[in-house]
Amino acid sequence: MQQVLVSLGTRSYPILIKNGLLKDCGQYFLEHMGKSKVAVITDSHVAPLYLDQVLNSLQDAGLSCCSVVLPAGEKTKCAECLMELYAFFSEHGISRTDAVIALGGGVIGDLAGFAAATWMRGIRYCQIPTTLLAQVDSSVGGKVAIDLPQGKNLVGAFHQPSLVLCDPEVLNTLPDEFWCDGLGEVVKYGCIHDEALFSMLEEAAPYGRHALMKIMETILEHCIGAKAEIVSMDELDTGLRMTLNFGHTLAHAIETCQHYEGLHHGQAVSIGMYAITSLSEAKGITQFQTTDRLGRLLKALGLPWALPDIPGEQLMYAMQLDKKHTGSILHMIVLDHIGSCHIMDASPEFFAPLFA
Ligand code: NAD
Ligand code: GLY
Repeated sequence: MQQVLVSLGTRSYPILIKNGLLKDCGQYFLEHMGKSKVAVITDSHVAPLYLDQVLNSLQDAGLSCCSVVLPAGEKTKCAECLMELYAFFSEHGISRTDAVIALGGGVIGDLAGFAAATWMRGIRYCQIPTTLLAQVDSSVGGKVAIDLPQGKNLVGAFHQPSLVLCDPEVLNTLPDEFWCDGLGEVVKYGCIHDEALFSMLEEAAPYGRHALMKIMETILEHCIGAKAEIVSMDELDTGLRMTLNFGHTLAHAIETCQHYEGLHHGQAVSIGMYAITSLSEAKGITQFQTTDRLGRLLKALGLPWALPDIPGEQLMYAMQLDKKHTGSILHMIVLDHIGSCHIMDASPEFFAPLFA
């Protein structure tokens, strides 16, 4: 069993990582969160695969539980589904001493986490992430939110979980496109924080998903360790935590221009990381040949690096809008070399050479 701690004083919490952990989740829950009524929230793809296993384990541990299954997909991260959860909590008498389990990917984690943050002014919750993206990123750090018609993640909170339970084996059933989403973030941690992780990925990548799954416990420990360290130092995202956005400025612009119906998030992040590194290397900010090394890894992992066919002006406009939206200058994350990065203030014009 690997264990990582997010260190936040009295709100510190552990992340347990172990192949096969799901079947014993009740016991881990009881050990770390104590006896309480548990509301398990999941989606329609995850429920047939894992819900019974989780409910059986909770019941075997003597916990009383109830569950709700929401439709799978980003559309579920909405105000209507949030109201549905409040009605479910009310119907099952979920009180301040009870707890929520988010069993699913980032959509369920963000929505269930926000419901827990706001129900009766905040109750405890446990994340059981089932996508690679949720395991390495969204389940750790306490950012919870819903989308509005006006934009993604516009209503949210910082509400840290009390426990995160990660079972790498659940990734065996994850469809390829969602596997790639997580891989983009895994490469990101190697780039910004952890050259040893990057080298490990370089070694395994040519042998495919199977080879990566063999070392997944270790990969997760590295990624989650990096995120836990960053969140412990900058919980509220005012400095260091922004480094987690490496590659994301251009990625968001690509996703916006394609109305979230084109490239998957991880593919857009992959292109974003490669593009910004090629620009910063050309300016002498990033060590010579870093872009080549990054490009080779992305290619071996089956991730794209070339810009999609979107006019440069459209991408620049989308970045300009994003900048207005956040009401600040653009914080660009650039690599010093693989394993180290810094934050640089810039304008969208930084990307202009890409479209020349
Ligand atoms: P998701 O939750 O929609 O999951 C992707 C798909 O995989 C869904 O269809 C789901 O039903 C299915 N699935 C999940 N686990 C499975 C499994 N083990 N086997 C088979 N199918 C499975 O998407 P995601 O990529 O996990 O998360 C994306 C969301 O995360 C976005 O809403 C994004 O805003 C959010 N996010 C939040 C943070 C944060 O810090 N809170 C960080 C990054 C992303
Ligand atoms: N996914 C970025 C963060 O947690 O800050």
